[in-house]
Amino acid sequence: MKIFLDTANLREIEEAASWGILSGVTTNPSLLAREQGVDFEETILEITRLVDGPISAETISEDADGMVREGKTYAAWHPNVIVKVPSTIEGLKAVSRLKQDDIRTNVTLCFNANQALLAARAGAFVVSPFVGRLDDISEPGVELIHDIVQLYTMDPEIDTQVLAASIRHPRHIIEVAQAGADIATVPFNVLQLSMKHPLTDAGIERFLADWRKREAEQVTSVGAQ
Ligand code: E4P
Repeated sequence: MKIFLDTANLREIEEAASWGILSGVTTNPSLLAREQGVDFEETILEITRLVDGPISAETISEDADGMVREGKTYAAWHPNVIVKVPSTIEGLKAVSRLKQDDIRTNVTLCFNANQALLAARAGAFVVSPFVGRLDDISEPGVELIHDIVQLYTMDPEIDTQVLAASIRHPRHIIEVAQAGADIATVPFNVLQLSMKHPLTDAGIERFLADWRKREAEQVTSVGAQ
């Protein structure tokens, strides 16, 4: 399973890219709104310079004509830009029209398997089921990933990838991978947390303490000669 970063923050993207684990980035209007005073196009272009992989940029129109218009603009910015449209009927129309121009789409805000099936049929490049937001309303988010992966696997005509979104904690990353997701898009703090373990920290501390003690003993024994 590939790892994308779910953010519009350039410092986070630069840092995670330096770890050598990033295959793409997803943004959305809320994430961009958090970055005060930045220009949308310039931010997306800067991300394409930091990460060589799909970069999702979301449309804000509610009708297919508007989504197609915005999508064509974003896609012209850089070949790695993926156009995000919502899981609505207008979104489906936009997906199939953009596909005719070879523009790849990410069908976002997916909350059931029907939406995912129709998104794939319309020609989506990826579909984004929101795991955490389903968990928030006491519906099993990871189960939706299982269902979609199963549906897509059963139909040899479908090549849409499953991008698990709304990841809230490190356990989600493992669960969506086990459910067969192709990609998980993960907030920076969750990625950081997923590399933390108290025994790793304690182990490093003990190794360093033992090494310093050995060095101190060597200095003492040389001094005694
Ligand atoms: C996906 O592309 C979205 O940006 C994202 O995962 C939304 O997650 P949230 O529920 O944490 O806002």
